[in-house]
Amino acid sequence: MCGIAGVTGASDALQYLIDSLFRLEYRGYDSAGIALQTSDGIWRVRAATGTTSIKSVKKLADELGYPVAAGIGHTRWATHGRPSEDNAHPHLDCSGRIAVVHNGIIENHVLLSDELAAEGHELTSETDTEVVAHLIEDGMADGLSLTGAVRRCLERIRGHYALVVISSDEPELLVAARSVSPLVAGISKGMATLASDIPALLSHATEIFALEDGQLAEVWPGKLVVSSLAGDTVLPRSLQVNWTLEEAKREGFEDYMAKEMHEQPRAISDTLLGRMSPQGRIILDETRFDDDELREVEKVFVVACGSSYHAGLVAKYALEHWARLPVEIDIASEFRYRDPVLDSRTLVVGVSQSGETLDTLMAMREAAYWNSKLLVITNVVDSSMAREAHGVLYTRAGPEIGVAATKTHLTQMIALELLALYLAQLRGTLYPAEVAALIEQLNALPEKVQHVLEEESAVKEVALSVASVRDFFFIGRHVGFPVALEGALKLKEISYLRAEGYPAGELKHGPIALIEPGTVVVAVATRTRLWDKLMANIAEVKARGATVIAVANYGDQETAEAVDQVLWVPETNPLFAPVVDVVPLQLLAYHLAKAHGHDVDHPRNLAKTVTVE
Ligand code: AGP
Repeated sequence: MCGIAGVTGASDALQYLIDSLFRLEYRGYDSAGIALQTSDGIWRVRAATGTTSIKSVKKLADELGYPVAAGIGHTRWATHGRPSEDNAHPHLDCSGRIAVVHNGIIENHVLLSDELAAEGHELTSETDTEVVAHLIEDGMADGLSLTGAVRRCLERIRGHYALVVISSDEPELLVAARSVSPLVAGISKGMATLASDIPALLSHATEIFALEDGQLAEVWPGKLVVSSLAGDTVLPRSLQVNWTLEEAKREGFEDYMAKEMHEQPRAISDTLLGRMSPQGRIILDETRFDDDELREVEKVFVVACGSSYHAGLVAKYALEHWARLPVEIDIASEFRYRDPVLDSRTLVVGVSQSGETLDTLMAMREAAYWNSKLLVITNVVDSSMAREAHGVLYTRAGPEIGVAATKTHLTQMIALELLALYLAQLRGTLYPAEVAALIEQLNALPEKVQHVLEEESAVKEVALSVASVRDFFFIGRHVGFPVALEGALKLKEISYLRAEGYPAGELKHGPIALIEPGTVVVAVATRTRLWDKLMANIAEVKARGATVIAVANYGDQETAEAVDQVLWVPETNPLFAPVVDVVPLQLLAYHLAKAHGHDVDHPRNLAKTVTVE
C-alpha cells in the first residue's frame, strides 16, 4: 500500500506534490520520490531515509531552482524489493522520457522483466513496477501516443494497480489506470490532480471523481477524460466529499481500527495474489528456500507473540493436517528459555506483523544458533526479522496504524495456510486436485469476510446489549480455540474488560467455577470438527446461568436455538474458518470499546511494536 500523487497545471508542482505526499504518509513512508516535467525533460529525485524520506526528497528537488507545472510523486510501503533509493518510485524507462508511480502488485512482473531484459531493456530496480515504464517505452517506440502505449501495457500486466504515468513527449498530460487499488482525480480551474487517496486532493480540487476498476484516465490542466480499457469514453463517478483532512486519512471511518477492519477483504486478496497458479498449484518461489531444503524438514516450530501467536496456533492445525509435519508452537518470550530441541532439519517459523518484536527476534536467533532453517512471516519488508531469516513470506496488509492487530492478523493466517498447502504439495501429502480445490476456497475468503463486515450493525446491537457486563469468556474447540483466544485478546486490549479465552473442553477442569448468572460466554460455534462437543460445553455454561453469544454459520438454526444471541458468518473449509470467524469478534470488541468511550487506536499501556523483553 503506497501513496501516489500527480498534478498538472499547478503554479508550483513540487510544493503541491510534497504537501500531498505528507498527507499520504499514513500509507507508508519507507522511501519517497517525485518526477517533474522540466524544460529539460523529466527530472527525478528519490530518497530512502525512512520517516524523513519526503523531507529529503523536497531538499533534493529544491535544487531545480524554478517552478514547474506538472509531475508525479510517491511515498512507498515496500512489497517487492527492499526499501532503497533504487527501488523508490517513480521508475523510468531506458530513455528517461517516461516516469511511472504505482500502488499495488504486478503479479507477472518476473516473466515480463525477463522478456524485457532479453529485448535489451535495462532494469535497475527489484520492484514489480519498473516493467510498466519499459512496456510503455516499447509502445511509444512503435509510434503509439502515451495513452495508447499505456493501454497496450495494461493488456500485458496482471494484478492490482493504480498507476500514474507521464512522458516528456506530452508534458501537460497525466495518464492513469486502475485495477482494484484505489485512484481518485480532482479538477479545479486550470489544474488537475490524481491520487491514491482523497487526503492528497482535498486542498485543491473543487470536484473529485473516483476511477473504477478497468478505467483509464487522461488528465490535462482543468480537464479529465475517462475511458474503458477498450477505449470507450465513460462518465466518471463524482464523489461528494465533506471530510476534514483527518477524516479523509481514515477514509471517513471513525478511527484507523475501523478502517483497517474494513480493508481486510482487500488485504487477503493482495496476500493471495500471484501465489497460486491458474492450474491450481501454490507458488512460493519468493521464500528464498529451495524445494530440496524444505523437503528435508522433519519438524516445524512456530514462534510468535500476541495475535501473531494466535495465527501461529491456526497454522499448527493446518500444517499437521495437510502437510503431516509435527508442529510445536511457542510463545516467543518463553521459547529460548526452555532449551528447545532444534537442528538443521527443523523449520522455525517466526510470525510478526512488525518484524521487530524483540521476543520473536531473539527466539529466531536461538534457532539460528542451532542451525535451524528460519522462515519469517511479516508485514514489513526488510524488517530485522526479514533480514535475519533465511526465507521470508510477506503478508501484504499495508501499514496498520491501530494498535490492535486486525488486517495483519488475518493476512498472517492466509500466509500460514499458503505455507501449509505448499509443504503438503511438496511432500505429496495432498493430491494436486485437493490442493486445487482448497485454492478455490481460499480465493472465496475475501468475499466471505466482506459479508461479515456488512453485518456490522447487527454485531453492534449485540455489543450494546452486553455493554454493562464486565466478565467475558471466549470458548472454542479445534481451530475455534485460537479464534476464542484472539477474540478475548481484542476485547481486553481495547475495552479493558475481563476476557478469558479457553479451549471449551477445558472449562470443566476449573474455569467453569467462575461462570454465574450474568457472565457472558462467546462461543465459536461454526461447523468445524468438534461442533457437537462444543454444543455440549455450551449447555454446561447455560446450565450455570451464562448468557451465550455464538459465532454460527448462516442458517444454522440448531446452534441459534441453543444460545441467546448469534453473530452470523458464512461457512468455509473448517481449516480456513478462523479467517472468517474472528471478524465478528473484532467488531464485537470494537463496539464494546466504543460503548465504553475508549480510544481504540491508542489503548492504554500498549505499543504497536514491542522492542523490549
Ligand atoms: C495484537 O492486537 C497486539 N497489539 C499484540 O498482541 C501483537 O500481536 C504482538 O505484540 C506481536 O506483535 P508483532 O506481530 O509485531 O510481532
